[in-house]
Amino acid sequence: MSGRIAVFGAGYVGLVTGACFADLGHRVVLRDVLPEKIEVLRRGEIPIYEPGLDALVERNRDRLTFTTEVAEAVDGADFVYVAVGTPPTYSGDADLSAVWRVVDELPALDRRIVLVMKSTVPVGTGDKVRAALDARGLTNVGYVSNPEFLAEGTALHDFMSPDRVVVGAFDPADAGVVAELYATLTAPIVRTDVSSAEMIKMASNAFLSTRISFINEIANVCELVGADVTAVAEGMGLDHRLGRHFLKAGIGFGGSCFPKDISALKQLAGNSGYHFQLLSSVIEVNELQKRRVIGKLQKHLGDLRQRRVALLGLAFKPGTDDMREAPSLVLASRLLAEAAEVRTWDPVASAEHLLPAATQCPTVEKAVEGADAAVIVTEWPELADLARAEIRDLMARPLIIDGRNLLDPEQVRRAGFAYECIGRPSQTAAAPGYSAE
Ligand SMILES: NC(=O)c1ccc[n+]([C@@H]2O[C@H](COP(=O)([O-])OP(=O)(O)OC[C@H]3O[C@@H](n4cnc5c(N)ncnc54)[C@H](O)[C@@H]3O)[C@@H](O)[C@H]2O)c1
Repeated sequence: MSGRIAVFGAGYVGLVTGACFADLGHRVVLRDVLPEKIEVLRRGEIPIYEPGLDALVERNRDRLTFTTEVAEAVDGADFVYVAVGTPPTYSGDADLSAVWRVVDELPALDRRIVLVMKSTVPVGTGDKVRAALDARGLTNVGYVSNPEFLAEGTALHDFMSPDRVVVGAFDPADAGVVAELYATLTAPIVRTDVSSAEMIKMASNAFLSTRISFINEIANVCELVGADVTAVAEGMGLDHRLGRHFLKAGIGFGGSCFPKDISALKQLAGNSGYHFQLLSSVIEVNELQKRRVIGKLQKHLGDLRQRRVALLGLAFKPGTDDMREAPSLVLASRLLAEAAEVRTWDPVASAEHLLPAATQCPTVEKAVEGADAAVIVTEWPELADLARAEIRDLMARPLIIDGRNLLDPEQVRRAGFAYECIGRPSQTAAAPGYSAE
């Protein structure tokens, strides 16, 4: 069945959802409140960096339109998808103001439509939206929770080949028509009640975050006892009960989802009378993990005052320009607080507004020139050959802190660098020609 779909919110999720549904044969109207974003899209440009999205939008131009107008978006629509942001508030709860704006702006219609929640919202939101719709007499508006699990950088693949599609509804008929939208995909459809669908999303992100904080703590212990966390993770991951995913030690997770979603779940539990102790630890471990790089730098450089440090990679992970909750921001801010000089490089992300005191460089070479240390913050493939003579000769001191275990330790050391990584045996003796002052 092909339907007419209005998607509210033309961000990472809304754009991908809209373009993918168009590719599946549906007619899609994307609505955003930012006129400049809609202008850019109408010109055929893509306002975010997501591999393959420009080509997908171009290929489906006939089935995709863009507007700022609610009336134009819902005109003839069978589904109104909500893909607006739900950022954290100061209290750690999710800010649902954009979601409520969509609900409040929904006009009364003389036909049945289904309001579908793609945004990540706390458990109980669906109940509140249903009550609000009923209070307005909009009983012909169905409500379905259809959370999104895509990851930036692989978003198109994740949407088109999901592990599962979760559909939580009050009315089985609404669940049926939403499930039908995905009929051509091979993914299993998990049909459930609205609250459980909301919890599947929150619990999934919380569990993935927990795995990351767990392996990061294992890495920290590995450093103390001389084990290699990459070998440990490999050996653990082969156990089918554990699996290999999300067992990569590093400098902690960031991004627009994990930090805010686990915080929202922790707050939701707290607001409901339960202290979610494990999640509190997951959050704390992650915060401390980002800061451990500072200790590694101090081990080699001593006082960081006036030391030049190159942060390589700004985005919270490769394949995206998303800077939300990026560990690079915490790292840069800590370094600046130590009065270090911070140079940055990223192939697509920019932090000029977020980190005005840091100098953003157009190339890796420029960033490391005269640097006392280079820190791999994001494992961009461009950094895989960082440990080469040209880089070593450009630096004031050949020191690499590999926050993502991207490089081969032996090779880096052979190339004459002092090297620190995460949870793998680190070199204690200085590299030839290198001395910490
Ligand atoms: N980014 C991800 O990787 C990801 C993955 C899964 C789920 N999610 C969830 O999806 C939701 C959207 O995330 P995102 O990263 O796409 O956010 P985003 O900030 O990139 O995009 C949100 C868009 O919504 C627009 N908007 C705000 N109010 C609006 C309104 N009333 N009508 C229309 N548009 C409006 C904003 O202008 C913005 O363009 C969040 O709840 C997020 O947690 C995100």
